[in-house]
Amino acid sequence: MDLCEELRCLQEEGVARLQAAADEDALEEARIALLGRQGRFKALRDVFRAADADTKRVAGRLLAAADEALKAAWSGRQQELRGAGAEAGAIDITLPVAGHRRGSIHPISRIAADVEEVFTSMGFAIVDGPHVEEELFNFTRLNIPDDHPARDAQDTFWLDNGRLLRTHTSAVQARLYPSCSLPLRAVVVGKVFRYEEVDATHDNTFTQVEGFVVDAGITVAHMIGTIKTMINAVLRRDDVEVRLRPSFFPFVEPGFEVDVRCTAADAGRLGRWIELLGCGMIHPEVLRQGGIDPEQHQGFAFGMGLERLAMIRHGIADIRVFNGADLRALHQFGA
Ligand code: PHE
Repeated sequence: MDLCEELRCLQEEGVARLQAAADEDALEEARIALLGRQGRFKALRDVFRAADADTKRVAGRLLAAADEALKAAWSGRQQELRGAGAEAGAIDITLPVAGHRRGSIHPISRIAADVEEVFTSMGFAIVDGPHVEEELFNFTRLNIPDDHPARDAQDTFWLDNGRLLRTHTSAVQARLYPSCSLPLRAVVVGKVFRYEEVDATHDNTFTQVEGFVVDAGITVAHMIGTIKTMINAVLRRDDVEVRLRPSFFPFVEPGFEVDVRCTAADAGRLGRWIELLGCGMIHPEVLRQGGIDPEQHQGFAFGMGLERLAMIRHGIADIRVFNGADLRALHQFGA
């Protein structure tokens, strides 16, 4: 076989062998045999070098063609094998599907949305204030002076700069009055903080909803109607029974606590009264300090912990569920 014949032969057989390589190992083996330092191509090139000028003229093109064809076949097959390998490794279509983990809305966020919706429907504005509050708004302007023992009832976290984490959403009342236009109907839903011993019914971080109305001729009847509407909406009933007991909060006069009677829907607590919120007619001193003339305008305010309401609504026994971040618990209320 002359050189030209051998080069054609090498090209044909070599390309076929490379293209037939079953895996990357076989391909590498073929490459070494064909294109390696001691491979067939190298051997023929040595023959070519030693050949006479006439042979070289013809064989030169064949040599270059074989070189090109072999390299192209090698890299083509290599890409095929790698692509197939990556596909097989990355996606095993026989594996079971991981499935979607749907998120769920936190039960407090859900109730907060319900509360905001019912108040919006009654023409209330949704307002909020800062969590890091000034003493002035959290206490002083709410008729709780420096040395008043009511401050002890709401001990909280104090910052070095003299501010504190607000203990109640009532602070928003004090902030709002000086700049509000009357009549005023507003509701706040937000986090509040207290220095509490944490147990099944107390947490140091919880959520309050506070509603307040200031207008001419506002009475306790308006307050009761508003509170009942809210509780019915949040507990998804229309027959909620409430009871008012006299109580003391420095920023209202008279002040009340409102209890609601549990029905059969509230598992195992039928007929029991549960204390739900504080409320009352806004103290004239609070209005005056907010720049509102109590002779002209009156108002009511109430403040309620949403966690307690969520516990009734969902039959939750431990308040620590809400801030506990245990998704197994929280997912149950997400629907
Ligand atoms: N701010 C009171 C509390 O957190 C609740 C309250 C609000 C009472 C408004 C009366 C009127 O305990």
